[in-house]
Amino acid sequence: MGWKLKKTVVMVGMMGAGKTAVGTNLAKRLAVPFLDSDEEIEKAADRTIAEIFSRDGEAFFRRKEAQVISRLLESEQCILSTGGGAYLSEDNRAAIADKGVAVWLKADIDLLWNRVRHKTTRPLLNTGNPEKTLRDIYDARVPYYEKCDLQVQALPRYSIDQMTDAVIDAL
Ligand code: S3P
Repeated sequence: MGWKLKKTVVMVGMMGAGKTAVGTNLAKRLAVPFLDSDEEIEKAADRTIAEIFSRDGEAFFRRKEAQVISRLLESEQCILSTGGGAYLSEDNRAAIADKGVAVWLKADIDLLWNRVRHKTTRPLLNTGNPEKTLRDIYDARVPYYEKCDLQVQALPRYSIDQMTDAVIDAL
């Protein structure tokens, strides 16, 4: 399609926003590699994110996440999906600003909850009231996500292809 990626496109946003699904599709469409920070952390540690959280704690996970993101930003231009908490870190934001363009996949809380409610892979939601936890996390993170270079709205009626089109239009 004659599209040349100038910078790595970094997918940012809450768990359930579609960063991995849309990022994977976007990479295919633009014929560039797709990388996922959570997947790389799991590979490096040979453990799942849930195991890392329960055995080593969130602070340890965040250190690994920062290392992985800065390493992945060194590779050739690609689509990089980040975990929902990554963009809260000032260091991560600076590294991303240096090498990439940050795209916030913005979804409202009902859509996010519908997508994550039956999953057990998100340790931060292992609380007595995961819906409230998700809402609290969302409210606390929006001010950070707003710092992204671009925003793309996710709606329940949008397919992955339509979301991908919207990201391409925004780039
Ligand atoms: C997290 C989101 C997860 C994963 C970890 C922490 C977060 O990734 O990095 O469980 O802080 O929101 P996804 O956003 O891909 O679910």
